[in-house]
Amino acid sequence: MFGKRGTAGQNGNAAKPFGGGSKTASDNDSKAPPPAPEKSEAKASAPAPEPAPSSATSLSDEAKEKLDEIKVNVFNDLMEAVDLSELTALTPEQVREEINDMVSEIISMRGLVLSLPEQQTVIKDICNDILGLGPIEPLLERDDIADLMVNGPDVVYIEVDGKMQKTSIKFRDQAQLMNICQRIVSAVGRRVDEASPICDARLADGSRVNVIAPPLAIDGTALTIRKFKKDKLTLENLLQFGSITPELKTVMEVVSAIRLNTLISGGTGSGKTTLLNCMTGHIDPAERIITCEDSAELQLQQPHVVRLETRPPNLEGKGEVTMRDLVKNCLRMRPERIIVGEVRGPEAFDLLQAMNTGHDGSMGTIHANNPRESLSRIENMIMMGGYNLPTKAMREQISGAVHVIVQAARLRDGSRKITHLTEVLGMEGDVVTLQDICVYEIEGEDSNGNIIGRHKFTGLRPAFWEKAKYYGLERKLAEAMQFTS
Ligand SMILES: Nc1ncnc2c1ncn2[C@@H]1O[C@H](COP(=O)(O)OP(=O)(O)OP(=O)(O)O)[C@@H](O)[C@H]1O
Ligand SMILES: [Mg+2]
Repeated sequence: MFGKRGTAGQNGNAAKPFGGGSKTASDNDSKAPPPAPEKSEAKASAPAPEPAPSSATSLSDEAKEKLDEIKVNVFNDLMEAVDLSELTALTPEQVREEINDMVSEIISMRGLVLSLPEQQTVIKDICNDILGLGPIEPLLERDDIADLMVNGPDVVYIEVDGKMQKTSIKFRDQAQLMNICQRIVSAVGRRVDEASPICDARLADGSRVNVIAPPLAIDGTALTIRKFKKDKLTLENLLQFGSITPELKTVMEVVSAIRLNTLISGGTGSGKTTLLNCMTGHIDPAERIITCEDSAELQLQQPHVVRLETRPPNLEGKGEVTMRDLVKNCLRMRPERIIVGEVRGPEAFDLLQAMNTGHDGSMGTIHANNPRESLSRIENMIMMGGYNLPTKAMREQISGAVHVIVQAARLRDGSRKITHLTEVLGMEGDVVTLQDICVYEIEGEDSNGNIIGRHKFTGLRPAFWEKAKYYGLERKLAEAMQFTS
C-alpha cells in the first residue's frame, strides 16, 4: 500500500543495534546530543512514539526502558519504510491496519522477541503517535477525566472526581509535545510557535484546548484540555452528586421556565457551563434560542436553537469575530432568549441591553467568587469596554437586567456545589440590593476530609413569586420552598 513499504526491514537501520538514530543530518536541527527521532516527523508531520504508555505501567523500569527503546527503533524503521503522504489518503482504520502489518514485519526482521501484549503496546503507541495525541491519547478515551493538564513534557495532571492527580505519563521531549500541540491546533487552521505562542483550539470530539508555548511557558509547552462530555450532566445528576437538593432543583427549574434573566457565577472549573446547560433543559421547546460561545460547549436539547461561535484572528491578525459582535448580531436574529457561554468583556453591556429590552430568560456565565462580585465584574467589563456611564446608571442597568444569580463553587474536597441562589431586587441609593433565596452552609468536615454542609432556604419570599404565578408555577415553587401560598 505505501510507496516504500517493500524496503521495510531492508534498510540499513533495521540491521542497526538499538539506539542507533536513523535520521539524516537535515533532520537534526536540535542541539540536543542524542539523535532525536521525532525530528524526521517535522518534515513528515508524524511524531515519534512516547516512552511511557499507560498500558506498560506494570512493567519494571528496566523492561519499560527496553520497550521504549524498541518503540523508537521500530518507529524509525517505519518512518523510513512508509511514504507518509500516502497515509493521509487512508482512513484511520486503514492506517492502523497498515501500521499493524508493518510493525509486525519490522519486529520479525529485527529478530525482536516481544510478548503479544508488548507487541500490541508498541503498535498501539505508534498508532497513537501517528494518528492521535501520543501519550495522552489513552487519557482522552477515559470519560471520567474532566481536565487534562500538561505542564511541559514531563508533567501531566488530570482531574478526576474533582481532584487533581499527577500521572506517570511523560512525553519524550518538548519537541514531541510541541508536535502534538501543533497537530491539534492545525486541525482548526491555527499555528502555535514562538511567534504566536498562545492558541485556543478544539479537538475533533469537541474538547476545549488551550496551548501556551515557550518562551511564555517557561518549563515547556502547557497544554490544557477540558474534556468534552458526550453525556452532559443534568440537574438530576447534580442532585445525585449532592450539588443541589431536590427542593433547590425544583426552584431552579422554575427560574428557568419563567424566563428570569440568569447569571451563573463561579470560579474556573466550578461547573458554570454544566449548570447553564442543565438550566436550558427547562426552557419551553417553542422558544427560539440563540447561543453565543467562544468554543461551542453547550448542548441544548431544544429544537429551535441557533448556535454561534466566536472566531479568533487569522495568522495575519485579521478576521476576528468577537463575542460582542455575536451578541450584537444576534439581537437582529429575533431571539427569544440569548445564551452567552461566558461573559468576559464588553459584550456584557450588549447582553444587559438585550435583557433589558424584552429578551427575558437570557442567561450567561461569569467568573466570580460570589454573587455580589459577579455584579462588580460586570461593571468592570462595561467600564473596560469604554462606555462612559456614571456608576449609578450602570448599576441601574445591571439591576434592571439581571433577575437571579446562581453561584457555583468547587469546594476544597473536590465536590461541586451550588452555593447561592440569589435574587437581584433593585437599587437602594447607589447600591444594588441582593437577596439570597438559598445558600449552602458549610458545617464541618468528616474524617476523610469531605465537607459536610447543607443547603438552606432563607425563608424569604422571592420577588419572582408573581412571575411564577403568571406562569402557573407558584404551587411548585411554594412546595419546594415550603411556603403556604
Ligand atoms: N456538580 C457537578 N458535580 C460533578 N462534576 C461536575 C459538576 N458540575 C460540573 N462538573 C464537571 O466539572 C468539569 C468542569 O465543568 P464546567 O465546564 O461546567 O466548568 P466551568 O465552570 O464552566 O469551567 P471554566 O471556568 O473552565 O469554563 C466538567 O468535567 C463537568 O462535567
Ligand atoms: Mg465554562
